[in-house]
This record gives sequence, C-alpha cells and structure tokens, in this order.
Amino acid sequence: MSSIQFVSVAELSVTDPRLTFITVARRQMRLPYLDIDWSQEPDASLRKWLMNTSTHTHQHYHWLVSKDNIPVGWLHLRTNNITDRHILSADIYIDPDYRRQGLARQTLRFGLNWLADHDLLTDITRFHVDVSSAGSPPALREHLLNLGFEITYTNRQSGAKIQRYDLDEIKQKAQRLQDSAESKGYHFQMIENGNLDQLFCSADDFFKMRQTTWNLMPTEDAGSEEEIYDNAMNEEWYKSIHDGDMAVMIVSYDQEDHPVGLSEAWFSVDNPYILSQYDTGVISEHWGNQLGITMKTLLLNHLLQNYPQMSKVQYWNTGNAGSNEHMIRINNVLQYQELYNQYCMEVDLDQMVQYLG
Ligand SMILES: CC(C)(COP(=O)(O)OP(=O)(O)OC[C@H]1O[C@@H](n2cnc3c(N)ncnc32)[C@H](O)[C@@H]1OP(=O)(O)O)[C@@H](O)C(=O)NCCC(=O)NCCS
Repeated sequence: MSSIQFVSVAELSVTDPRLTFITVARRQMRLPYLDIDWSQEPDASLRKWLMNTSTHTHQHYHWLVSKDNIPVGWLHLRTNNITDRHILSADIYIDPDYRRQGLARQTLRFGLNWLADHDLLTDITRFHVDVSSAGSPPALREHLLNLGFEITYTNRQSGAKIQRYDLDEIKQKAQRLQDSAESKGYHFQMIENGNLDQLFCSADDFFKMRQTTWNLMPTEDAGSEEEIYDNAMNEEWYKSIHDGDMAVMIVSYDQEDHPVGLSEAWFSVDNPYILSQYDTGVISEHWGNQLGITMKTLLLNHLLQNYPQMSKVQYWNTGNAGSNEHMIRINNVLQYQELYNQYCMEVDLDQMVQYLG
C-alpha cells in the first residue's frame, strides 16, 4: 500500500536536495507564464525563505509531502498575521502527475490538525488561499466558490517586456517628467537596499508616509500583506539582500523635504528574469501631480542606465488591485500587459474544517 509522509521543512537542512521540489514548485506557481528552465538558476534565497519560520509579521509552517518517499507536494501555512490574527493563509501545491487523488485534501487536513494539536488555531476564524488564473487549474476557483469561499480581493499581475523599451526614449521621458515635477517643487532620491540613513527625512517620517500610502490602496488584502511599517519590518524586508537580492527605491519629497511618495524595484538572485516593482504610492494631498508615473519612469531609467543585471531581465513585473484604475492607467502608459490575476479567496475556518472531514 502506498503511504503519504509529511516532513516539516524545519527539520531539513538548508541544502537538502528534497527542497528543490518546493523551490521549483514555488516558481511554477508564481510565474507560470515564462518559459524558463528554473533548474539552472540558484535557489538560495528561496531556501532561506523556507527556513525562516518566525518573522516579525507572521509565523510560517512548511511541509514537504511525499508519496512512497517521492516528493509530490508542498504545504505552507501562515499564522500570526500581525494585522489580522484571525486569518490562516495556505499555499498548497501537488505535482501534476499526482493530482485528483485527494492529496491536497489529505494534506490540508494534516496541516489543520497539526495546528489544532499545537493550540495554534485558537485565534483563527478565517481560512485564506490565493488562486492564480495562470498557475492554478481553471476550474479550481469555481470549485472553491461552490464550497462557500468568497473572493476578497483580486490582484492583477502585469508585466512589461524590457526589450520593448527604447533606452533613449525612456531617458528623455524621465528627464521631461523630472523637470515638470521639479517645477512644481518636488525632488527625488534613489535609496539602495533599504539604507534609510541616506534619507533626507527621518526614518519615522518615511515609515509614516509608507504606511499612509499603503493604506490608501484600494481594499488591500490584509491576509497577504501588512499595513504596518516600522524599523523591524524594514530590516526584515531587506534581510534577503544578504543572499544577493537587491532593492532600489525612489522617494519623492516636497520642497521642505517631507517624503510624499515612493516606488521600489527588487532584483532577486533566484529569479534574474523578473524585476519586481512594489509599493508605488503617493500620499493623497499630492495626487494629480504625475508623481506616480514620474517615479516609475525615473526608477526604470535609473536601472536601465546603471544596473548590468538589467541585461538578463525579461519582465518588469507589478501587482495591483484590479480596482486600482489610476495605477492601471499608469501601467498602460508604461506598456505593461496584463499577465494573470491572483484571486484572494476566504472562507470561515469552521466550514473548511467541516469540508476536510
Ligand atoms: C489545487 C491543487 C493543490 C489540487 O490538488 P489535488 O491533489 O489534485 O486535489 P484533491 O484531489 O485533494 O482535490 C480536493 C478537491 O478539490 C477539487 N479539485 C482539485 N482539482 C480541481 C480542479 N482542477 N478543478 C476542480 N476541482 C478540483 C477536487 O474535486 C476535490 O473536491 P472534493 O473534495 O469535493 O472531491 C493542485 O491542482 C495544484 O497543486 N495546483 C497548482 C497550485 C495551486 O493552484 N494551488 C492552490 C492555490 S494555493
């Protein structure tokens, strides 16, 4: 008879070859639209992420699922969400050759029982998953809706093909936008790798601005993101840089050096083909001055002119709320194409437990 084993990743060494199954799965789940041979790329920071169970904002639990000692799946449960302690989030992946045999259901049942046995479900009332229109089976969303899940938020992932940009055109456009913003009294600063000592303002003022812009985003999903920014959060966010990742942030200031907006690009050593863009935001008093598009264009121009890593990048990728019309308009100007949607889906935990049986 075949048997299923669940091995806690915390019990494996960071170099355990079995972890390759999870790092490959994770890439496939996140970036299903690229025809890339990930096996040739290092996965050091993904492995480090798998081992980093206790973070400032969450507690993470990872298991490798094996059948007859062959790795076939991965389960990631996340509790202790700093802003929403009642939410349990799950990522689950089953190898395509082993699907529709009840493995996902069995794995989730195991994970929830494990949390209950360790008294970790006491504060939890909601169960959350992200279902991708590209990485998940198309009928799965329908199945979850039938089970009583609701879509709480749709994250639209867009990407711009870097090769499509004409360097001179971007350079000129960046200059025009910068001149126009400067004529309105704004100025900009590039910050590398979260080095906040360089800021023209205090770190506290910067965090306040970052938190304000984050909370202005439409119905952001507290289940997968945080609304609190402070020094501990900042340090954690940049920890992976020690594994070779690199971040470049642009900050906008008004005439008195008050920070009014930011945008950030992230190079990951595990994924040199995608340049991720995060957290573009402007505080509302300064909306309507083209700061969003100016920051994104200046950042892109800065990276294209100065970073050799850009030669390998294929997509400049970003995620927005599907309802975020302003940001989507900016993305259209910058020639982003819609790639896939990520549906954040939630159900009452009791209902999930009952379904799993
Ligand atoms: C989603 C996934 C984990 C399902 O794994 P699985 O082992 O095939 O799932 P199970 O056999 O345990 O099925 C569990 C239930 O989901 C349903 N289901 C599974 N795959 C489905 C599909 N493609 N379409 C519709 N329903 C599906 C099953 O019918 C079953 O329902 P039932 O309990 O009412 O009989 C797997 O397809 C996968 O890894 N996909 C890629 C990653 C992903 O999308 N993860 C989910 C978001 S975190």
